Amino acid sequence: MSKWALVTGASSGLGVEFARQLACRGYNLVLAARREETLTQVANELLADPGNPGNLEIRVFPVDLQDASGVHRLYEFCKAKGIAISVLVNNAGFGDHGYFQSGDEKKFSDMIDLNCRSLTSLIHVFLPDLIEQGKATGDGAPGISRILNVASVAAFQPGPFMAVYYATKAFVLSLTEALWKEFRIAGFPVTATALCPGPVKTGFQQTAGLREGSFANNARIPGPREVAAFGLKKTFKGRRVATHGLMFKISRGLLRILPQRAVLSTVARLQAARLNS
Ligand SMILES: NC(=O)c1ccc[n+]([C@@H]2O[C@H](COP(=O)([O-])OP(=O)(O)OC[C@H]3O[C@@H](n4cnc5c(N)ncnc54)[C@H](OP(=O)(O)O)[C@@H]3O)[C@@H](O)[C@H]2O)c1
Repeated sequence: MSKWALVTGASSGLGVEFARQLACRGYNLVLAARREETLTQVANELLADPGNPGNLEIRVFPVDLQDASGVHRLYEFCKAKGIAISVLVNNAGFGDHGYFQSGDEKKFSDMIDLNCRSLTSLIHVFLPDLIEQGKATGDGAPGISRILNVASVAAFQPGPFMAVYYATKAFVLSLTEALWKEFRIAGFPVTATALCPGPVKTGFQQTAGLREGSFANNARIPGPREVAAFGLKKTFKGRRVATHGLMFKISRGLLRILPQRAVLSTVARLQAARLNS
């Protein structure tokens, strides 16, 4: 019995690494994002990698997940190919940086659609398959199914000058923690993990309009390989939240006790320093 993982946002950054590392773990892959050519390049590279299992299968599905029908078309594609997903990686997402009042309203709603609505719908449509796959027994039993939702340390507090992005990631964290509990109560063989990284070296900063070199210590910003490996390790352990980096784990603890006014002032200062003008 072959096991399948679906990775959204698999054309760059963290998504490519999730795909690479899931292939190494023996999963066949469905790769989704908008750029078909880039997805195909990723697929070809993984298929050519001698380190991956020789029977690795990859399907590429170009889709704009901001479009409400995209999720359902992706699900129908998997059904038509006879693919039952047992690992769902909700990774596609983007941010936007700047003053709220000068932000583009369409961009805000696209961000909410991608970061929140499509992620929620993907979990909802794939959950019956995830449950079935998690129950499967016999030869090659896949075991418990997994959902990895990419949130961010931005989920831990509001973020002046990236207000909508921080709010979307708070949604992802809240939803994931609630589902982690709900699945346990229901006895579903499915876990949900929210991966909360700090800055990672990917295309994210450019898309979000963050000033280049705007991080205090760029040399210490991890690459996607390290963060994806951490996220998958915690996901396969069934952890509810996976915060990457000791500094962010400590600051998450501090955020629980510090006055919200002080937190807002600190985040506002940090984000204001990254404004382009
Ligand atoms: N990098 C960081 O500092 C950081 C920190 C914390 C959390 N995160 C989160 O990590 C996740 C991955 O981001 P990344 O850092 O790897 O950035 P990235 O390199 O910009 O990758 C984003 C991915 O999302 C896909 N995507 C964007 N819009 C899409 C749409 N409408 N429909 C389908 N796919 C879409 C992109 O592919 P196409 O352009 O081909 O569609 C790309 O594959 C995001 O959820 C982000 O919020 C990033």
